[in-house]
Amino acid sequence: MKSVKTFLLIGLWVLVQECVKCHGGEETSVQPKHVNPCCYYPCQHWGICVRHGLVRYECDCTRTGYYGENCTIPEFWTRIYELLKPSPDVMHYILTHFHWLWDIINQTFLREWLMRVVLTVRASLIPSPPTYNSKYDYMNWEAYSNNTYYMRILPPVPVDCPTPLGTKGKMQLPDPKLLVEKFLLRRKFRPDPQGTNLMFAFFAQHFTHQFFKTHNRLGLGFTKALNHGVDAGHIYGDNLARQLMLRLHTDGKLKYQIIKGEMYPPTVAETKVNMSYPPSVPPDQQMAIGQEVFGLLPGLSMYATLWLREHNRVCDILKTEHPTWDDEQLFQTTRLIIIGETIRIVIEEYVQHLSAYLLKLKFDPALLFNSRFQYQNRIAVEFNQLYHWHPLMPDSFLIDGTEIPYSHFIYNTSILVHYGVEKLVQAFSTQQAGQIGGGHNIHRVVTKVAEAVIKESRELRLQPFNEYRKRFNLKPYKSFIEFTGDKELAKELEELYGDVDGMEFYPALMLEKTRSGAIFGESMVEMGSPFSLKGLFGNPICSPEYWKPSTFGGQIGFDVVNSASLEKLVCLNTKWCPYVSFQVPLPGSPHHQQPPHAEL
Ligand code: HEM
Ligand SMILES: *[C@@H]1O[C@H](CO)[C@@H](O)[C@H](O)[C@H]1NC(C)=O
Ligand SMILES: *[C@@H]1O[C@H](CO)[C@@H](O)[C@H](O)[C@H]1NC(C)=O
Ligand SMILES: *[C@@H]1O[C@H](CO)[C@@H](O)[C@H](O)[C@H]1NC(C)=O
Ligand SMILES: *[C@@H]1O[C@H](CO)[C@@H](O)[C@H](O)[C@H]1NC(C)=O
Ligand SMILES: *[C@@H]1O[C@H](CO)[C@@H](O)[C@H](O)[C@H]1NC(C)=O
Repeated sequence: MKSVKTFLLIGLWVLVQECVKCHGGEETSVQPKHVNPCCYYPCQHWGICVRHGLVRYECDCTRTGYYGENCTIPEFWTRIYELLKPSPDVMHYILTHFHWLWDIINQTFLREWLMRVVLTVRASLIPSPPTYNSKYDYMNWEAYSNNTYYMRILPPVPVDCPTPLGTKGKMQLPDPKLLVEKFLLRRKFRPDPQGTNLMFAFFAQHFTHQFFKTHNRLGLGFTKALNHGVDAGHIYGDNLARQLMLRLHTDGKLKYQIIKGEMYPPTVAETKVNMSYPPSVPPDQQMAIGQEVFGLLPGLSMYATLWLREHNRVCDILKTEHPTWDDEQLFQTTRLIIIGETIRIVIEEYVQHLSAYLLKLKFDPALLFNSRFQYQNRIAVEFNQLYHWHPLMPDSFLIDGTEIPYSHFIYNTSILVHYGVEKLVQAFSTQQAGQIGGGHNIHRVVTKVAEAVIKESRELRLQPFNEYRKRFNLKPYKSFIEFTGDKELAKELEELYGDVDGMEFYPALMLEKTRSGAIFGESMVEMGSPFSLKGLFGNPICSPEYWKPSTFGGQIGFDVVNSASLEKLVCLNTKWCPYVSFQVPLPGSPHHQQPPHAEL
């Protein structure tokens, strides 16, 4: 009996000692006695941290090219590769300078060779088949097969870590509202130095909202876009029932209405599909579009109109070529052509503009036929976060000599029809968009969205920015000043975050120092383009099985895909051809002043 009491007393003493130790004597916050070792992110170079017992962990370094306790020791060939590999900034400099060099390369086999290198290097950074999601930080069948989740590149921060981001940074992250007001809210409109225009901005929003359709009603980290890629679901709807309601069921076409002699999307009153409009807009004024939210902005309904016209135009071409084909085959084949056109425009014009590369990018799926490449894709939550490019939006919209404020622009259903597609394209192509990186450039109307992104990232337990830098083969920043290049900003961030290893993903992407003359900094490019290229080339139409004329209704359809361009998308579907581009006209070019509207 006595020995039991002594035993208990000793036990109690040990516990108290342990407690004093783990609280450092004065810390009052409750901390787990054993910190999960994976909270330190000990495994480098893509090594996988696996916890054993309470305090032990193991790094799985299989096929990382490194070995050792934390996967830090390079194997022989890794060492050679590391020595020879140029840094992303050097590569970027070469790819955006030396005009004379690229003038030569663009016209030789080196163009194809470099395009293949760019593609394989970038795409190899995206796990395929997909690995984690927001529920599972280890690989398992449910995470693989349940595609209602977005994928995760890095697993969530373990729930039992001492700080919200692991072990670094403060116990309490800065208030999202404060972060946005202090660092992201626009003071004075700062145009993008690459000359990006609103035609680009609305294309970005329109194009990405086919695969970014967060479905938070299910919980965090879910999507409504179950195809996880370029499926043109923003044109045809994300499910079969909606598609059938949007189709005319004649000649493969989509339903439409004619206003002032021009083709527009049909009304909600006629098609009965649900769109999200405020109740003040009656159903006979709501346009029915594949994507539910595209009534939000005239820029989005303008692109919806262009793709609707293009779909029906291609149907006519196919019908002439194949008079025996039924509605179904005409529709289905046209959809593949529309997907192909989209991918070509995105790579050869949209990404070309964004990258500012002098290498002429090429959409040719055959480039990958001899390499190890998986024709599948799963959209990542990090890609979604990263793509919140709201700084692109201007202070107001300049259309045909009229300045339109947001209050008259958002959910205004009469602007599109009033001006017509031509004048909107002309206006959006000539108006400057904002620079995305560098901070202080988000218009007041969308600051709430930036706050929501930050809140969401915390609930999703996204790992620190520097861990993502490492995941994408970039050096983690050592200090706030190295990260921002601005003393004042560095000081303020240091006060709020405490440690550069405790910076959050989205704010960091917005505040990283921009490259000179560029729309954003190194990380946005190095993290964004792998997701983008993997999504574009991972499409089934790019596989050797699909990529042939017969898939697209024969040589005629294949030619439509292979010659698609933004200008054709507009000018083959309008009465006259406006200035159409992803960048504002250069000073001195004939389009610099608003040109007279030439009838074509
Ligand atoms: C005036 C223009 C815009 C407005 C009013 C607007 C508004 C919004 C709103 C209200 C959300 C939903 C936020 C939430 O549910 O928490 C959102 C999401 C988003 N926005 Fe914008 N936005 C605009 C322009 C843009 C542009 C130009 C881009 C460029 C790519 C963009 C990219 C995104 C993305 C990627 C999402 C996440 C979508 C999802 O996960 O479902 N937005 N925006
Ligand atoms: C591995 O990482 C842990 C935690 O970061 C560290 O304590 C340990 O010293 C590292 N081991 C080696 C061999 O570097
Ligand atoms: C090479 O391609 C880039 C990007 O399209 C372009 O800016 C450059 O003028 C091209 N040079 C030639 C000779 O085609
Ligand atoms: C996917 O996971 C969610 C959440 O656990 C669940 O509600 C849904 O039924 C799952 N879907 C499938 C197809 O298993
Ligand atoms: C449209 O929304 C209403 C109300 O949420 C719902 O009852 C109806 O089933 C929806 N219709 C379709 C076709 O999805
Ligand atoms: C919609 O735009 C038109 C044309 O700019 C304008 O006259 C009208 O007042 C706007 N409607 C709303 C509800 O803002």
